[in-house]
Amino acid sequence: MRAEATFERAARRAAARVRPLTFADGKRVAEIERKAFLDPWPRYALETEIENPQARALGIETNGKLVGYVICWVVLDQAHIGKIAVLPEFRRQGLGDRLLRHLLEALNQQGVREIHLEVRRSSQAAQNLYKKHGFVVTGVRKNYYSKQREDALVMSLLLKEGIRYGLV
Ligand SMILES: CC(C)(COP(=O)(O)OP(=O)(O)OC[C@H]1O[C@@H](n2cnc3c(N)ncnc32)[C@H](O)[C@@H]1OP(=O)(O)O)[C@@H](O)C(=O)NCCC(=O)NCCS
Repeated sequence: MRAEATFERAARRAAARVRPLTFADGKRVAEIERKAFLDPWPRYALETEIENPQARALGIETNGKLVGYVICWVVLDQAHIGKIAVLPEFRRQGLGDRLLRHLLEALNQQGVREIHLEVRRSSQAAQNLYKKHGFVVTGVRKNYYSKQREDALVMSLLLKEGIRYGLV
């Protein structure tokens, strides 16, 4: 990789900031969603989740521009990650990693002890990201993505009280 490109990536990562999403982010989140998923949620559904008190919705911005987000739902000590996405042109710069790390730290502090999610069998990038943070495959849901008849892998992470995530 060219030195300028490496420098640019490092600079983007350094300039990134994670923050809670607000209703006003709905339009932008829907734009990212359409570029990231084969079966994108409509804007109103994303806005509903951003405002859902049972949900945690975080965004990551570089130079003041929202380029990724994560949405998860929390019930008592369990959480379910519904979405994580980074704009294609901002991928492989550590932003998804930073977003997930931030979320897991927040969930850990909140007392969450189990985190689950579904991920497409074909989505190697996402599976690697989750594995990097200690998630393991705990099940398969056949044809979960019915439009494309693709299986979902269920991935889970158990957090132990008093220690940082990823160490169990
Ligand atoms: C999954 C996704 C959020 C990763 O975002 P990202 O900003 O590119 O990820 P990062 O650069 O922080 O990479 C973190 C780790 O993810 C894995 N990863 C990311 N992209 C990868 C790729 N193209 N191939 C293989 N592994 C990949 C690696 O383990 C990487 O760690 P490393 O850099 O130490 O190798 C992004 O690819 C995306 O938006 N995909 C489409 C939406 C999606 O599938 N979401 C998940 C289902 S809910």
